Amino acid sequence: MRIIKVKNKAEGSKAAFKILQEEIEPGAKTLGLATGSTPLELYKEMRESDLDFSDMVSINLDEYVGLSADDKQSYAYFMKQNLFAAKPFKKTYLPNGCAVDLAKETARYDQIIAKHPIDLQILGIGRNAHIGFNEPGTAFSSQTHLVDLTPSTITANSRFFEKAEDVPKQAISMGLASIMSAKMILLLAFGEEKADAVSAMVHGPVTEEIPASILQTHPNVILIVDEKAGAGI
Ligand code: GLP
Repeated sequence: MRIIKVKNKAEGSKAAFKILQEEIEPGAKTLGLATGSTPLELYKEMRESDLDFSDMVSINLDEYVGLSADDKQSYAYFMKQNLFAAKPFKKTYLPNGCAVDLAKETARYDQIIAKHPIDLQILGIGRNAHIGFNEPGTAFSSQTHLVDLTPSTITANSRFFEKAEDVPKQAISMGLASIMSAKMILLLAFGEEKADAVSAMVHGPVTEEIPASILQTHPNVILIVDEKAGAGI
């Protein structure tokens, strides 16, 4: 794992953008994208850039169950607002959180990932070291699956909702094996609330109790951390 330490989120987002640009220029065609507050400035860099994504495919990590694409709290809406409206892709994929048959939807999503191998996967990290919505205890061999969100993730994500009760209790997430299939992974972590997760990911045992620790075994991971998130490494 290559570690890049930066002063703050602004510097980290610029460094991430540069790496993205360096991958796109020689021909990366499929981006794996993440939501949450972490990649927001990277998406701003992308929106304001000259980069053209109209020949590229994007595949997002996850989506809440029960929220439609026009629900303001859905990840589909987040992506449209923060990236896709300004920078159209040839095709963008997110799990359909309103699918009637969720098992069928997870299988459909795996077929999409198989058809479009991810060149560069952008990741954030949860405070309990989850990636995507792969909570502690998720099998390293997991593919796209239905997830029961943990109370700590529901609490952390409630800041985006009016009331904690509004946070969906389930999500569809790419699995850890799906994430590991990406050719290159770029994980961003900013702020002191991520320091423990980052330290466990980098120095901890590779165990399903620390989902992000699987990244220690991936041949091409870049981790960008600010001073606070990188305090323990
Ligand atoms: C959610 C998302 C993750 C994200 C994490 C951290 O659980 N499913 O993809 O990495 O939150 O969010 P934030 O970047 O807002 O700290």
